[in-house]
Amino acid sequence: MEVKDRIEELRRLLEQYGYEYYVLDRPTVPDSEYDRLLRELTELEAENPEWITPDSPTQRVGAAPLDAFNKVTHDLPMLSLGNVFDEEEIREWVERIERSLGRSTTYVAELKFDGLAISLKYEEGRFVRGATRGDGTVGEDITQNLRTIKALPLRLRDAETVEVRGEAYMPKRSFEALNEEREANEEPLFANPRNAAAGSLRQLDSSITASRNLSLFAYGVGINTLAARSHSEAMKELSRLGFPVNQEMRTCETVEEILDFIHHWTTERPNLPYEIDGVVLKVDRYDDQEELGFTAKSPRFATAYKFPAEEVMTTVEDVDFSVGRTGKVTPRARFSPVVVAGSTVTYATLHNADFIKEKDIRLHDKVIIKKAGDVIPAVVSVVTSERSGTEAEIEFPERCPACSSELVRLEGEADIRCVSPECPAQLVEGMIHFVSRTAMNIDGLGEKVVRQLYDKGAIHTVADLYRLDREELLTYERMGETSVDKLLAAVDASKGNSLERLLFGLGIRLVGQKAAYLLAERFETMEGIAQATYDDILAIEGVGSKIADSVKQYFDHPEAQHLVADLAGLGLNQRFLGQKVDHANAPLAGKTIVLTGTLESLKRSEAGKRLQALGADVTGSVSKKTDILVAGEKAGSKLTKAETLGIEIWDETRLLSELAKYE
Ligand code: IVH
Repeated sequence: MEVKDRIEELRRLLEQYGYEYYVLDRPTVPDSEYDRLLRELTELEAENPEWITPDSPTQRVGAAPLDAFNKVTHDLPMLSLGNVFDEEEIREWVERIERSLGRSTTYVAELKFDGLAISLKYEEGRFVRGATRGDGTVGEDITQNLRTIKALPLRLRDAETVEVRGEAYMPKRSFEALNEEREANEEPLFANPRNAAAGSLRQLDSSITASRNLSLFAYGVGINTLAARSHSEAMKELSRLGFPVNQEMRTCETVEEILDFIHHWTTERPNLPYEIDGVVLKVDRYDDQEELGFTAKSPRFATAYKFPAEEVMTTVEDVDFSVGRTGKVTPRARFSPVVVAGSTVTYATLHNADFIKEKDIRLHDKVIIKKAGDVIPAVVSVVTSERSGTEAEIEFPERCPACSSELVRLEGEADIRCVSPECPAQLVEGMIHFVSRTAMNIDGLGEKVVRQLYDKGAIHTVADLYRLDREELLTYERMGETSVDKLLAAVDASKGNSLERLLFGLGIRLVGQKAAYLLAERFETMEGIAQATYDDILAIEGVGSKIADSVKQYFDHPEAQHLVADLAGLGLNQRFLGQKVDHANAPLAGKTIVLTGTLESLKRSEAGKRLQALGADVTGSVSKKTDILVAGEKAGSKLTKAETLGIEIWDETRLLSELAKYE
């Protein structure tokens, strides 16, 4: 066989195998066979350079770097689509179309790929030019870069002259691998696959693009040279010519079918190997499309339904610090407000110095945020590729933002604390805890009212709550007779609470709901607990040395003794009433939970404490008695064992949402 014929044969084979692998996702030969043929072709071309053509499969590796991209004017403008955001707007869009046509029509629903719009020109079946959308009229010539995308046919099955439009994208797995590699090399990370795809196609050096594993879907044609009568016909033709056409498109006759498609993909979206950000709806028949025409910016015959964004990029505008009940100083990021999964987010906790360090969060950074467990806003990562150099380290205050006393960081703790017993922030947070549902459960005395009372100077300690003056309360804002009387009645009623509520309400470090119950049950009176020895306390099953220490320390404090006496004098019950209400009704009572792996947003020990506070028994090893395994990143043998035993498994998101439900 002539060398030239062999070259042609090799190209055909490689095209066929490449098509099966990259477009159909159904390889028919092993990779080694493909590599062998490619090597043979490369060698033959090296010996006969005059026969190299730009559409040879060897030309996908990238060409000499460019100085700049050439501008190209699109033969037909690349418009964008209008948006619809909910069911009502979809119905309106369909109604408008059918009113305009004067009859019903057929639609095609497609996935809306989250990548980069591209135009691909073929002349007599050969790929001759690829371009970005640019401003819609003029884009950039990125032919060299697009040639490196293996799913892009360099030669078509027929010698068609056609301009194909589509979306170049980076599959999720390629994106993850790319960012992992960049992290290892300390290179800036990409925020999402779309940015990574855009960044990869914007390279002047196409060998970089070639290394990035991009793919594409064809979703339309420019000027209709295919003689298709409808969008679906055109798509079939593109598929036949060798283009990757997404197979999930559906023909819909009614709004209900359209909505079904949308609902289906709203839930199935995470299982796709590529990102989508919505669904595109198109009127199928070209004559209908023509009749409907265009507005200034977009076609009337198509629209995009956008999913509510789940992960969003925003800027860290500022970081403030708040002091909690235990004196813990917590950094909180303030963002440029953004809508995440349907609601506006402005703040998220940054937990502590370790969290900030690990994620390397800086002031003015662009960050990705999401709602953990679909409720609590959380920072996922910093988009280091967006850094401008003006970002600043987050400085922790040295003094308490509430009382200016010096902050301390205890050995081995990530937290910074204010240890002043007079810190107003701690006092207020402590009182908010005292009145809360799980402690003294004083109705009508929420966070706002406690703050107001404190600011007015009406309360300094929780005992003052039982000395509130009706006449004075009536002079406060938003305090009418009815609400004041209700509030006073609730305060009064709380005097009768069983001991464990009062004990828990005092906010003794490490004494959660469960420990408070166990202590109350064992010693029966506040006096009894105050008098108990360290060993007495430690003897209680479920109470450890740290709790025993903390209880002893608390009651050794003269201030605490004074408060307890004060509360007794005010008529607060200090006896265990034996109603097992708290413990038995604790939301996770009776559940044995094991934690394993690394949690992102909180320490395992903290998660454990919070689960215990909700009544759970938190143990160390998985057995048949385990009810739930909370598995973080890199969970190992415990996870495997739990799976074998068929134990319920929560990921971090689930954990956070369960905590949020009950705390
Ligand atoms: S049709 C007139 N179909 O969404 C524009 N676009 O503004 C016709 N996109 O950036 C576009 N998936 O690149 C169409 N199945 C799909 C699409 C899709 C993603 C992108 C498109 C453009 C934006 C629409």
